[in-house]
Amino acid sequence: QKLDIELAAIEKGGYDHFMLKEIFEQPQTIFDSLRGRLDAKKGTLTMGGIREYAEMLSKANRIIIVACGTSWHAGLIAEYVIEELCRIPVEVEYASEFRYRNPVVGPGDVIIAVSQSGETADTLVAIESAKEKGAIILGICNVVGSSIARLSHAGAYTHAGPEIGVASTKAFTAQLAVLCLVALKIASEKGSVSAQRFQHLLDELEQTSDKVATALKLDDQVKAIADKYKDARDFLYLGRGYNFPVALEGALKLKEISYIHAEGYPAAEMKHGPIALVDENLPVVIVATKDSYYEKVVSNIQEIKARKGKVIAIVTEGDQTIPPMADDVIFVPSADEIVAPIISVIPLQLLAYHIGVLKGFDVDKPRNLAKSVTVE
Ligand code: G6P
Repeated sequence: QKLDIELAAIEKGGYDHFMLKEIFEQPQTIFDSLRGRLDAKKGTLTMGGIREYAEMLSKANRIIIVACGTSWHAGLIAEYVIEELCRIPVEVEYASEFRYRNPVVGPGDVIIAVSQSGETADTLVAIESAKEKGAIILGICNVVGSSIARLSHAGAYTHAGPEIGVASTKAFTAQLAVLCLVALKIASEKGSVSAQRFQHLLDELEQTSDKVATALKLDDQVKAIADKYKDARDFLYLGRGYNFPVALEGALKLKEISYIHAEGYPAAEMKHGPIALVDENLPVVIVATKDSYYEKVVSNIQEIKARKGKVIAIVTEGDQTIPPMADDVIFVPSADEIVAPIISVIPLQLLAYHIGVLKGFDVDKPRNLAKSVTVE
């Protein structure tokens, strides 16, 4: 048994938990997801697994992304990215809903299945039936040779390495990186993105790994914030645009790891319900990095402060407007809004981790949850 304990410690590479190790691996795993594909200096993007289908993808009538859990959140971000860059309509579906609905799908449709394990039963069955109806299936999986990867016509692996922690972290950021690559590939094939914007986004993607490393230096600061709010009963997470799904993912991480009730919401929807919950006991985490939605988010923060909510703001380095309004501020490196979620989710992963640990829970194996859900 002593040997088992020592082996486990070695596997964790000096970290207390797999979750923390995996959070800190992200600069490397993001780099690995881009390696051999993106060459910003040469201005090229090579995606071996979709080469044969690139033209067909660029001519898709619509793209339907199916996934569950954290992978579904990656899909939601990809919806914004693909619609912006490729001008193809995108829908994002919970695989479990899609498969039972007799959906209208057929030739001309592209289904992107996003799955860390590649074994999630609902996602697998959803793409099986869409494939039978003539849709093209593109798999974005982490586990090589997994069922979803094998069933797909085309695909791109995320190369995040084995993820042991039940709550997904490094697989999520790798999914975002790869989905950005896929969007850029389709956009360049289709001619829907200018050469200048294409090059700019290649440069931005290449820099994300270093920016994530910078964001990870916030660990001690996030831990102090975790200590301050760990006894809260509920949390609200808000964001707009590309950062709205980041808010959903932050709330999911907190629920999974700390068993605190948390809700993610598009910041502007707050006034249609959740604002009724805001009082001096409610921590509100707001992802408010500098993007095209920024000014709107500032007014959402004012609405929360007017009701005495506690604002924990994730903002871009150099921001001078939000810090005086917020109770706690976390500065992350500036990035193009398309890649910003890869960076802004880092402090949210750390926040959930530290609150879970401070509450004494087993963050690597949260109660009632499974790493891979192979039953419906
Ligand atoms: C489970 C895991 C989640 C994961 C989801 C989808 O619920 O606990 O972390 O996001 O399944 O899994 P997949 O392997 O398809 O990405």
